[in-house]
Amino acid sequence: MLSPLEKAGILTEALPYIQSFYGKIVVVKYGGNAMIDPELEESVLKDVILMKLIGMKLVLVHGGGPMIDSWLGRLDIKADFVNGLRVTGPEAMEVVEMVLAGKVNKGIVSRMQNLGGKAVGLCGKDGGMIKGRRITQPQDLGLVGEITVIDPSLILTLIDQDFIPVVSSVGMGEKGESLNINADTVASALGGALKAHKLVLLTDVEGIFLGEGQERKLASQLAAKEIPGLIEKGVLTGGMIPKAQGCLEAVEKGVENVHIIDGRKPHALLLEVFTNEGIGTWVK
Ligand SMILES: Nc1ncnc2c1ncn2[C@@H]1O[C@H](COP(=O)(O)OP(=O)(O)O)[C@@H](O)[C@H]1O
Ligand SMILES: [Mg+2]
Repeated sequence: MLSPLEKAGILTEALPYIQSFYGKIVVVKYGGNAMIDPELEESVLKDVILMKLIGMKLVLVHGGGPMIDSWLGRLDIKADFVNGLRVTGPEAMEVVEMVLAGKVNKGIVSRMQNLGGKAVGLCGKDGGMIKGRRITQPQDLGLVGEITVIDPSLILTLIDQDFIPVVSSVGMGEKGESLNINADTVASALGGALKAHKLVLLTDVEGIFLGEGQERKLASQLAAKEIPGLIEKGVLTGGMIPKAQGCLEAVEKGVENVHIIDGRKPHALLLEVFTNEGIGTWVK
């Protein structure tokens, strides 16, 4: 146990970090493991609430792949992945929306409320936040969408009123149809549209790995402009493709602090924000 004096010391050490983040918008995306492990999730939600209460404007975007898989399985609906995106037919889309915007989103909201946070759950349809169109090239992915319009005004209203928006990545097509948009894509686009100070993508690896075999190692920094080449060469695959593309877009929109970090580590967010250690990959 720490002595009261040691605790005071730690808090004072955090002061410069708190000052530099005060009033700034921070977009956090989490999914995968951090959502299945209740203890880990609690640590993410507590970090978010803490960061909010010391003056940052937090926006939380969530995924829900494992829960969608589980429900698609229970309902016996098949799911394929192409370049990290889940091919989504109309039936699967119904499940995606029910699970993501319903069960998962509202579950996070209630857990955050129970921990003392003021959370509001939204999907991309609310307030016309995310409009999109189906991705049909190079392959038709059904109701998987790409973003055409992003309107962050509802989010701005909420964060100005001290709420923590919790966003699920269901968007709306031109005819009002629901679109399944990758959650990293949504987090990055929101980060750009909100001119966020920082975008943190919590994932299930330490960050972006480059090189092959023995040479393969974590890139602590990565120039955003290298991303398209790395995708083409097959260095970035699966879910890392939309994640890295999102980072590139956020950087292009002027987000200066774009980080992919290991969400399997408890309090990874706090470590990222309150220390100089520089964990994970900083895309710039
Ligand atoms: N070069 C790479 N470096 C790190 N992870 C990579 C790389 N290429 C592909 N990946 C994969 O991307 C995954 C993360 O994306 P994803 O599975 O969509 O997780 P989430 O969106 O829940 O964070 C990693 O678990 C890893 O398997
Ligand atoms: Mg993913």
